[in-house]
Amino acid sequence: MKDMYLLEDNLNLPSDIKEMLISDYNNLNYEENSLEDYIIEKYKLDIAAKYGNLKIKNPFGKASGQLSCSINQVKADAEDGLGFVILKTVISQDENENSSMEEWKVNAPKMLIEEITSKKGETGYTVTWKGRGWDKSFLEYTKLLKDSYEIYKKYEMPVIPSVQYHLPMGQEEFKESEYRYTTEKLIEVWEETAKYHNIPFALEQDFSATLSALPVKEEEIIRWVNEVPKLIRKHMPNKDSLLGIKLHNPPFQDEFQVELLNTLNDKHFNSVDVITCFNRLFDADRIFEGKKGVAYGGYDLSDRNLRVLDKFIQERHASIPISATGNICSGKMMIEYALRGATCGQLHTYFQIPSHNYNLKEGRRTKKALHELIFNPSNGLVASMIYIKKRLGISDREVFKFLDLGELKNNMDIKALKTDLN
Ligand SMILES: Cc1cc2nc3c(=O)[nH]c(=O)nc-3n(C[C@H](O)[C@H](O)[C@H](O)COP(=O)(O)O)c2cc1C
Repeated sequence: MKDMYLLEDNLNLPSDIKEMLISDYNNLNYEENSLEDYIIEKYKLDIAAKYGNLKIKNPFGKASGQLSCSINQVKADAEDGLGFVILKTVISQDENENSSMEEWKVNAPKMLIEEITSKKGETGYTVTWKGRGWDKSFLEYTKLLKDSYEIYKKYEMPVIPSVQYHLPMGQEEFKESEYRYTTEKLIEVWEETAKYHNIPFALEQDFSATLSALPVKEEEIIRWVNEVPKLIRKHMPNKDSLLGIKLHNPPFQDEFQVELLNTLNDKHFNSVDVITCFNRLFDADRIFEGKKGVAYGGYDLSDRNLRVLDKFIQERHASIPISATGNICSGKMMIEYALRGATCGQLHTYFQIPSHNYNLKEGRRTKKALHELIFNPSNGLVASMIYIKKRLGISDREVFKFLDLGELKNNMDIKALKTDLN
């Protein structure tokens, strides 16, 4: 099953490049360098990426969750050079502070990082916890967003709020007042803090992984995917705005995930700017801290996501840009997603793994993780991009762009690319 990967297990790089990489992996002096400029100059690789049409300096972002709940976390990420941050998901509410999905506001600080072996036998990591959305007040969330825009301005690192809006079950109607109030309040913060600084209003809507705990039918999810973008867009500015939709991984066939992507592309091509694919898997039987049913990740998650994206891109060429999420545990895994259309990636688990997995011993986690993701000589972003560049016969002098990887998807049959690369 490993043959689903488009890159070989061992990236065979020329020895001079390997030596340069090993030297940077062990000794890079961050004080002196702007990372992205350094990589262009030294390796002739441009690692700039995009979230929708929003430019980001490198493809690695913080996925919404427990690591983007406070301004200190956001600030540390900006200082350490992360591409972008999606804030923790807030649950929508109306003007009277009523939330139909109130029970999603769970305070559960305990997280357990564990090894997890996938069905095909690869061992990675997963985080287990029993929380759901932002558990403090909506006012506190708007304060976090306001402060985050200051960081955005100072460091040019996009910070994007995430919302879970009301999702009706059965015959229930959508609580439109929650859509209106929540979106308008976030826009108010943007207008006060960011609008006049060339910062678009961006928002990511989250179909949470934990929705899989509910007995939801396929038709209900299709209804959400049809209606939710319209309900949010209704309250967003037409200009200078960007809507991301983060899809979850309900326990249905791969074909259903492809249907969700097709629905978004068919119905919302001009109103949804980026699709985040796909939130975590769900184990309905596992009990953690007295709660039955937990979300999980690891290689089963990336296998599922890559498989679905393979199926999707075989059927469709022009599509809404994709932001990848799910077991991005190396630059190489980021590239696997990029070759299937992702223009950036959102990570959570990789920032929580035991420290012995990072070569860099100084600094904070984001910096250590980023260093590993970019410079690991065996599976980092630079090694993987140079491998592809060589395979495609691109001259050493020419700059090869991360964002060109998506073109490979558009212009070539993915299987042919595989034959070409291997
Ligand atoms: C502890 C934890 C909390 C999370 N909370 C949220 C959340 O509030 N909103 C959201 O969209 N995704 C949430 N996620 C999902 C992550 O954003 C991410 O998409 C997912 O974990 C897959 O990435 P990973 O394999 O790098 O962890 C959470 C994940 C974890 C592990």
